[in-house]
Amino acid sequence: MKITVVGLGYVGLSNAVLLAQHNEVIGVDTNQDRVDEVNAKRSPVVDAEMSKYMAEKDLNLSASTDLKSSVANADFVVVATPTNYDEKATYFDTSSVEAIIAQVIVIEPNACVVVKSTIPVGFVDDIKRRLKTDSVIFSPEFLREGKALHDNLYPSRIIIGEKSNRAEIFAGLLAQGAMKPDIKFLFTGAREAEAIKLFSNTYLAMRVAFFNELDSYALSVDINSREIIEGVSLDPRIGDYYNNPSFGYGGYCLPKDTKQLLANYAVVPQNIIRATVDANATRKNFLADAIIKKQPKIVGVYRLVMKAGSDNFRESAIQDIIKMINQKGIEIIIYEPSFSGKIFYSYRVEKDLNKFREKSDIIITNRFDPDLKDVNQKVFTRDVFGSN
Ligand SMILES: NC(=O)c1ccc[n+]([C@@H]2O[C@H](COP(=O)([O-])OP(=O)(O)OC[C@H]3O[C@@H](n4cnc5c(N)ncnc54)[C@H](O)[C@@H]3O)[C@@H](O)[C@H]2O)c1
Repeated sequence: MKITVVGLGYVGLSNAVLLAQHNEVIGVDTNQDRVDEVNAKRSPVVDAEMSKYMAEKDLNLSASTDLKSSVANADFVVVATPTNYDEKATYFDTSSVEAIIAQVIVIEPNACVVVKSTIPVGFVDDIKRRLKTDSVIFSPEFLREGKALHDNLYPSRIIIGEKSNRAEIFAGLLAQGAMKPDIKFLFTGAREAEAIKLFSNTYLAMRVAFFNELDSYALSVDINSREIIEGVSLDPRIGDYYNNPSFGYGGYCLPKDTKQLLANYAVVPQNIIRATVDANATRKNFLADAIIKKQPKIVGVYRLVMKAGSDNFRESAIQDIIKMINQKGIEIIIYEPSFSGKIFYSYRVEKDLNKFREKSDIIITNRFDPDLKDVNQKVFTRDVFGSN
């Protein structure tokens, strides 16, 4: 098969690498640097398994900035460009996905467009009607950043929002590149597949928000959060995983996907979806107050990233906490090795870990790190398990 993958971020690149083991794949991105990296067999995103595959495997993968020539003769065009939440429109900005579909159906009318970007419920039906095409299907993506290729080699499930021959062919292509022996497949309606993605992420956000709210209670009344969570999690229906308190759920997807699901409810009564969105702001406010009460002059921020091993800090919860603390006139310094600048927004970035540790009255960190062992008494974290 000839497959074009548009958007070479976490989602696009991991799918491109997976598919390029057995198919001819061209990746397209507007970012020339990313295209150059892929053509040099290097991963532009930090992902150990992806880097290894790109360097060592015999992949039929090239990259280009030119959509037109890359899409010609393609059997499938996978779209994995961003769908950021537009706070003004209170909806995802799907313009990049729409523009690509509009071009592909003209350049290569026989190609089937598979949208991997997360989209609002009803998007596929709507775009098919507006562009008078039947060439679009949706396949939700469930990977985690940093484990993007791994999660596609060992997928929790492969879901395609159409019950058709072409849906089965595409699911087969994903499975062909995977390593997991018994993959679970699900073929659904388009809106059902769109809903599966948003409900999955909102459930995860709700779980994070629940353990965070448990932790807020424990912190307020001075009881041991870890002991409560351990006891609660021993119930196999609840389970001892994904239960470590944090500064709030963050990253690229959970904040925006929960808001999009809430927007999709529009006239449908709900409480939990709204609460899941609101709980995150409440948690950050609570923690910022707890830090401010300690009356530090300088607050050190150890890492802007959400988790150890991450290479980006899109929508990380700590950024909102910093803003709230700084608004009270407290000075902020940041230690973030993956940021090369000297100033992040208006905050000073300290490159030297020792100086950072010395200067800070309190060091706030979403996840504890051995770097902070010597200054343990200065550290403010809600990481009770010492894990991601
Ligand atoms: N990151 C995740 O963990 C994850 C997981 C599941 C689903 N998703 C969804 O997948 C989509 C992509 O997410 P991502 O994290 O891979 O994004 P990303 O920001 O890592 O990558 C997007 C890429 O698209 C490129 N791009 C933007 N506009 C383009 C255009 N018009 N033509 C060609 N390339 C263009 C960018 O240069 C960038 O390289 C989003 O809808 C996201 O919600 C992300």
